[in-house]
Amino acid sequence: MIKPHGSDTLKPLYVADAGKRAALAKEAEGLPSIVISSAAAGNAVMLASGYFTPLTGYMNLADSLGVCEKMRMTSGLFWPVPIVNVVKDAGPIRNAKRIALRDPNVEGHPVIAIQDVKAIEEASPEQMKFMTEKIFRTLDPAHPGVAAFNSVGNLLVSGPIQVLNYSYFDKEFPGTFRTAMQIREKIEKSGWKKVVAFQTRNPMHRAHEELVVMAMERCACDGAVIHMLLGKLKEGDVPADVRDACIRKMVDLYFKPNTVDITGYGFDMLYAGPREGVLHAIFRQNMGATHFIVGRDHAGVGDYYGPFDAQRIFHEEVPAGELKIEIFEADHTAYSKKLGKVIMMREAPPGHTKEDFVLLSGTKVRQMLSNGENLPQEFARPEVAKILMTYYQGIRKA
Ligand code: ADX
Repeated sequence: MIKPHGSDTLKPLYVADAGKRAALAKEAEGLPSIVISSAAAGNAVMLASGYFTPLTGYMNLADSLGVCEKMRMTSGLFWPVPIVNVVKDAGPIRNAKRIALRDPNVEGHPVIAIQDVKAIEEASPEQMKFMTEKIFRTLDPAHPGVAAFNSVGNLLVSGPIQVLNYSYFDKEFPGTFRTAMQIREKIEKSGWKKVVAFQTRNPMHRAHEELVVMAMERCACDGAVIHMLLGKLKEGDVPADVRDACIRKMVDLYFKPNTVDITGYGFDMLYAGPREGVLHAIFRQNMGATHFIVGRDHAGVGDYYGPFDAQRIFHEEVPAGELKIEIFEADHTAYSKKLGKVIMMREAPPGHTKEDFVLLSGTKVRQMLSNGENLPQEFARPEVAKILMTYYQGIRKA
């Protein structure tokens, strides 16, 4: 099986032994504690799940700056985005060596992890600006990722962690949330040698569906893992439970049985386009995928990134050999009325024009569903469109 990133084995930071976990939970009661940010909690869940192998905890300032500048930690490890625990006020944990981290996303803020504090360092305004620009390629506070990154503070609490639970993800999405260990086990059990992973934060439309089919065929994969984001999104994005229902319906009706695994991971969307694309590839390698689909405007938002910047970064900034996973680069894909099927635009025959495609923007899709208009069958499977219609009509009435 494909090796995890920078390691021969997965390094999940979840404390799997129930006895040890109980002892740590007891210890946590007596430790100084802080409620961490949603982003830091997402990082803890990803570290717990083995997705962020080989990291052992939250990065310090030097590692964060190195990662932003040249995608390298001080150890030389290739990594594209700082994995940090940033706080505004370190008062409650000042001088503490061991602290309890409380989950902002679960009622009562239970302890999610215990951290050995190696340092508490202040990032200067210039350093915050530098990191923001490198991660998001913009400083625009209207960018949802920039806004989130700059809202949590500038004190980096670094050091290894031991994680006690998977936050709300395994409870709210028991059928879908998976750790990297679980996905590797499933791949092994299915006897799949080549596996393509599909990142998504959207309900899957015909173009998404066809991308998975094309990637499976062209990369000669035995199976596909649809791996959806289950954490926080910007306003207007479709919530995870609705997306999950759409994706399950589509796979049930339109894919060969036992060729697709529907799964999800506990992380908030960064909307960091190219840099997030690289992070996505790393954690798909960690879960055992051999191939990863990167299409048009991968992990993008608004007009901040060029439509294929998230593919270009793999050629221009990821040194050869750093990643074992292969990228399946997809062109803009849509239904062709002329050909009666979904195709990649670059593969359209001569004489085929843009007008021959059925193209709908996200905004248009939302508008149509909110107005009670059916989505065209060429764009969305009718059974999927029906679930979305019910959801949009529900929010309109609410
Ligand atoms: S993302 O933020 O998770 O990337 P989304 O769920 O819409 O958003 O996309 C999932 C994957 O499908 C990404 O790799 C994206 O580039 C790709 N994709 C989505 N729509 C298209 C399309 N029409 N043509 C080509 N690629 C697409």
